Amino acid sequence: MLREKIIATTDKTEFYRDLCAELSALLGDERDAIANAANTSALLFERMPDINWAGFYFLRDGKELIVGPFQGRPACVRIAVGRGVCGTAVERRRSILVDDVHAFSDHIACDAASRSELVVPLLREGEVVGVLDLDSPRLARFDAEDQAGVEALATIYVRLSYLHQGDV
Ligand code: SME
Repeated sequence: MLREKIIATTDKTEFYRDLCAELSALLGDERDAIANAANTSALLFERMPDINWAGFYFLRDGKELIVGPFQGRPACVRIAVGRGVCGTAVERRRSILVDDVHAFSDHIACDAASRSELVVPLLREGEVVGVLDLDSPRLARFDAEDQAGVEALATIYVRLSYLHQGDV
């Protein structure tokens, strides 16, 4: 059922509108940030075509990212702020879209199959609390529409997971 929908959907605006609605419904009234990260990564991994890793890194002590719930191959656990695509996204406080990870000099390879990557910061009241990271085995898998769509998904995750509780 879900797979059929992926293949049938060519309009990314509609795809992300549906996925945002699906994520909101999936998280529902749950406010646990880890549980919600687990289900968010599972949903993205299942619904987005050509993805080999989807998951979260959370910022600790303002200087280091630690891996959170994800789908895909085992990943590196700690990434310093400013290192790799993930740490760079935290430092710059903005999304980073990498068409070819081999051309990003500081890319950290967790899965040798990865060819392109999209990292979106998780912003709570303007503060970075982590990142949502997507890897693809296809070159230039992500474009500006994907970035906007995944930023919308990250916003839903933060809004539903950090409203009534402290740090994860
Ligand atoms: N490629 C990332 C590391 C995390 S893995 O892709 C899961 C980076 O360069 O920060």
